[in-house]
This record gives sequence, structure tokens and C-alpha cells, in this order.
Amino acid sequence: MDISDVRHHFDKYAFAWTGFYGGNSISDYVVRSRQAHVLKEVVACTPYRGVVVEVGCGGGQLLVELAHRRPDLSLLGLDVSIGMLTQAKAAGVESASLADARHPPLGPHTVDTLVAVAVAEYLPDWRLVVESLSEVIRPGGLLVMTFAHRRSLLSWVDREYRNRWQKQKDGSMHRVQVDVAQVRAALTSSGLTVQRITPLSFDAYCLRYLLDGNPRLTKWVSGTSWQLDRLFVRVPFARILGRALYVVAQKG
Ligand SMILES: C[S@@+](CC[C@H](N)C(=O)[O-])C[C@H]1O[C@@H](n2cnc3c(N)ncnc32)[C@H](O)[C@@H]1O
Repeated sequence: MDISDVRHHFDKYAFAWTGFYGGNSISDYVVRSRQAHVLKEVVACTPYRGVVVEVGCGGGQLLVELAHRRPDLSLLGLDVSIGMLTQAKAAGVESASLADARHPPLGPHTVDTLVAVAVAEYLPDWRLVVESLSEVIRPGGLLVMTFAHRRSLLSWVDREYRNRWQKQKDGSMHRVQVDVAQVRAALTSSGLTVQRITPLSFDAYCLRYLLDGNPRLTKWVSGTSWQLDRLFVRVPFARILGRALYVVAQKG
């Protein structure tokens, strides 16, 4: 997998990917729930009139929500896929450009909050990317990022499926999976202080999925999504199911 495969993949599936934000399948819930975490973090932690950059912004759903909730912020989306950027522009993202996460076109220490959600799994050189993203963050600024969790049961199933049945030909594009220790080491050596590394719990997604359709329960569940994941993360069984590691780190 190189960058042209990734670009080709997302150009081809840009429309379908954007559809996750409006659908009702379990994977739609996974995507939206992940976005809810990130949104909450960025809204709460970014200073007034701060600069937020989303690397791998995809169809721009996060940026649209951010513009709505924090109109004071300067927002910029970067992505390698023209198909995804076209979706982002159509969704109303004003500032989105073609750029590679490995070489972000940003000056050193210019960003208050840098977000990269569901991108690291497409980056074989993810450690170098963490390093270059860290360079553009202001001291005290935040990196909010997710990684594919190597030690989750679902990741193992995914790997086995690709290796044994699909013989690695055209399986899942999620090639790069990491564990907590690797992520922590990469963040620390890039001058970032880890605030949180949490496996996002698959059980919590499932519960939200099953409860939806009941308006009263849905209201309660959406108001407690963060606590729900924290609760599930304490249960080892739930922890190994969480396919994504959710990371918040601060620039020193
Ligand atoms: C799974 S999508 C996630 C999109 C969005 N972050 C979200 O959560 O909805 C991954 C995105 O990362 C982009 N991407 C992959 N590798 C990249 C790279 N090296 N630089 C910038 N964007 C990249 C893809 O084009 C795609 O839009």
C-alpha cells in the first residue's frame, strides 16, 4: 500500500464513506460515535479564536460541526484524496486543500489543535507523521488522533481474514495497527505529553445501536456517550473489542 493506493481507494469510495454519517448500520454508529468524542474534545479544549487543522479531513463532517459550534475558530482541512475534498466542499467546508499528512504545508508552532482521525492506519510511516504533526502544534496545543488498535480481538479477526482468506491481495486497507506502548513511545519522542490513550469500546457502539429507535433512551444515551465508553473500557472484554485507540496529547 502506498499513497497512490490510498488516494485511489478514497477517490473511489468518497461518496460511500460520506454516507456513514447519515446511515443506520452498526458501522455508521462507530464512525459517528468516534466523531462525537473528537468534537467534544476539540470544542472544549481549543482556545478562543484558535487554529484547528484536520489532517485526513475526508468528507469534512467534523469541520462542518466545528464551524457550527465554534464560529470563532479558524478551520483548515487537508486530505490526499480529491474525491474526499470534493465531498468536503459540497458539505460546506470553506477551507480544505490537497496535502499529504507526511508533509503538512504549515509553519512550525502555528496550530492550536491538530486532529487526525482514522488516518494513521493508512500510513506505514506513522511515526514520522506524528513527528511532523507535532512540529506544527503550538506549545500547549493538542494532538487528537486515532490509531487502529493491534491488540483488539476485532483487529485480530481482520488480520486473520486478510492473511488467510484474502491472501493480502485486496483486503481491508487498514494495514497499520499499533499497540498502546508503540503509540506512547512515538508521542513522547515527538515532544508530546500523553493525556489519554483510550480504546474506543465496540460494546458501547453496539449498545447505542441497539437502543436507537427509542427516542427517550436515545436522548439519554447520546448525552452520556463519553461516560458510557469510559464504563465499558473498564471491562477487559470490551477493551479487547475496541478497534480504535483514541489519543489526546499535549505539545510540551
Ligand atoms: C477513513 S477516512 C477518515 C476521514 C475523516 N477523518 C473521518 O473521520 O470521517 C481517511 C481519510 O484520510 C485520508 N488520508 C489517508 N492518507 C493520508 C495522507 N497521507 N495525508 C492526508 N490524508 C490522508 C484519506 O484520503 C481519507 O479521506
